Amino acid sequence: MTKKLAGKVVLITGAGQGIGREIALSLADEGADICVTDVNIEIAEETKKLIQEKNCKAKVYKLDVSNLVMVEEICEKIVEDFEKIDILINNAGVTKDNLIMRMSEKDWDFVLNINLKGSFNCIKAVTKYMIKKRYGKIINISSIVGVRGNAGQANYSASKGGIIALTKTCAKELGSRNINVNAIAPGFIATKMTDILGEKAKEKLVENIPLNRLGTAKDIAKACLFLASSDADYITGQTLQVDGGIMI
Ligand SMILES: NC(=O)c1ccc[n+]([C@@H]2O[C@H](COP(=O)([O-])OP(=O)(O)OC[C@H]3O[C@@H](n4cnc5c(N)ncnc54)[C@H](O)[C@@H]3O)[C@@H](O)[C@H]2O)c1
Repeated sequence: MTKKLAGKVVLITGAGQGIGREIALSLADEGADICVTDVNIEIAEETKKLIQEKNCKAKVYKLDVSNLVMVEEICEKIVEDFEKIDILINNAGVTKDNLIMRMSEKDWDFVLNINLKGSFNCIKAVTKYMIKKRYGKIINISSIVGVRGNAGQANYSASKGGIIALTKTCAKELGSRNINVNAIAPGFIATKMTDILGEKAKEKLVENIPLNRLGTAKDIAKACLFLASSDADYITGQTLQVDGGIMI
């Protein structure tokens, strides 16, 4: 059977661990060549090794998504190496939680610069190449807290809500160039990001999840594969909530 992403070149940000790594492995399984990017080069190398163990193609690039000049340079390098960028997964993300009254300007800027501006930077840089090829799939990783807000996460929820609006706008701007732009809003997924929650807090969370468990990185990777594949050719501007039903 032909693989769903055979011949496609994918740029994934924050692919060194967690959801980004799982997306990288899942898309490689479907035949894509993976550009593993992360600000942390050591963990990115680990992801590359795991992809190569599957006999799939991967290359590592050190990339801080908040730095537009660096993003543009790395995209240029990727196109030199792979000739194109078909799919962009804006996954890199951070948290710095605090109540609004105690939140410092520094922590606000830090989160917005990586989560929201980072997504803008990458979209801006790749569209140049996608428009030339008249083909592209862009998938932005948002969060359910970008839809409903969350006490203690003014910076993070604003960045994730911004990503949803950015997704809709880019879908409108780029649709005529055959570029689909969608978002995924994960619920609570078991990764290092949610490890900081204690066991008690996790149990409480699960009580409100109809499917009765936290999500896995694999749950998000499956949704990402769908949106990245031709199965989703007529879907754009959408935010797919992958959250075990917590938002019902
Ligand atoms: N885990 C969850 O419950 C959950 C829920 C909703 C949304 N998300 C989102 O999913 C995405 C992945 O989350 P995760 O749980 O795998 O997080 P994680 O902390 O395990 O991984 C984040 C990755 O991003 C990288 N990164 C951080 N700053 C960067 C920068 N400036 N440039 C490039 N890379 C950078 C890190 O090195 C790391 O590899 C994030 O956007 C997160 O907001 C996660």
